[in-house]
Amino acid sequence: MIHVEKLSKQFQDGGAYAVRDVSFHVDKGQIACLIGSSGCGKTTTLRMINRLLEPSSGSISINGVEYQSSDPIAWRRGMGYVVQSVGLMPHMTIRQNIEILSRAMGRERSERRKRSRKLMDMVGLPPDGFSDRYPDELSGGQQQRVGIARALMEDPPVLLMDEPFGALDPIIRSSMHEELIQLNRQLQKTILMVTHDMSEAFKLGNLIAIMDQGSIVQQGTPRQLIDQPVNEFVANFCRGAALDLP
Ligand SMILES: Nc1ncnc2c1ncn2[C@@H]1O[C@H](COP(=O)(O)OP(=O)(O)OP(=O)(O)O)[C@@H](O)[C@H]1O
Ligand SMILES: [Mg+2]
Repeated sequence: MIHVEKLSKQFQDGGAYAVRDVSFHVDKGQIACLIGSSGCGKTTTLRMINRLLEPSSGSISINGVEYQSSDPIAWRRGMGYVVQSVGLMPHMTIRQNIEILSRAMGRERSERRKRSRKLMDMVGLPPDGFSDRYPDELSGGQQQRVGIARALMEDPPVLLMDEPFGALDPIIRSSMHEELIQLNRQLQKTILMVTHDMSEAFKLGNLIAIMDQGSIVQQGTPRQLIDQPVNEFVANFCRGAALDLP
């Protein structure tokens, strides 16, 4: 469960708000999607939840644990984070990148291998062909899938994903969607995902929050957004994608 209340961020005192009074709640088993134009504060929101950035004000709790009262390292280990830029270590192989946290946590080598191979299969990168290659020998979409496998390695209850499928072609993207839906059905994660694709948000999201200039303009289920948009901005976001709803 992720609970965020009146979360704000100003990078400079008295400056513009990158994020302003953002509140939402994601329950276990849910996928929430943040969507909005470039620069509206999506990544900043995720970075605050992951504690890479200190909020200017507001509160965050994860599975009932308050941000203020918890240890930052334990907090971060409780969640997988797929960063927007992928951020693989260039001097490490694909396998080492995926296992990086597991290794730091002292997991046994054979256990690590088994898990990383399984995840590589899951994201469509056969381990026999990819384990020993380096990130710059992979395409952008393949690197993105390594980033997803890395975030899942320790099987965290909470997943933060910043445009995880942005560089994938439609077929792989669609199969990753199915994987995510299955994974969530079986393992009941709490997932917060950033996307710029409303069809993707409608397909995956139980909750969708539409952001503009640091604030949430409207949040709700796909149905609520389509049937009761609060303004033209939201209606425009939904228009092109509404047809994809079942
Ligand atoms: N470290 C920083 N210092 C100052 N301003 C920042 C910093 N990081 C982000 N910003 C500003 O905060 C605002 C929100 O940025 P953010 O990265 O959250 O946008 P975003 O919604 O993720 O955009 P995109 O879709 O392009 O990834 C932007 O105006 C950005 O320029
Ligand atoms: Mg971003």
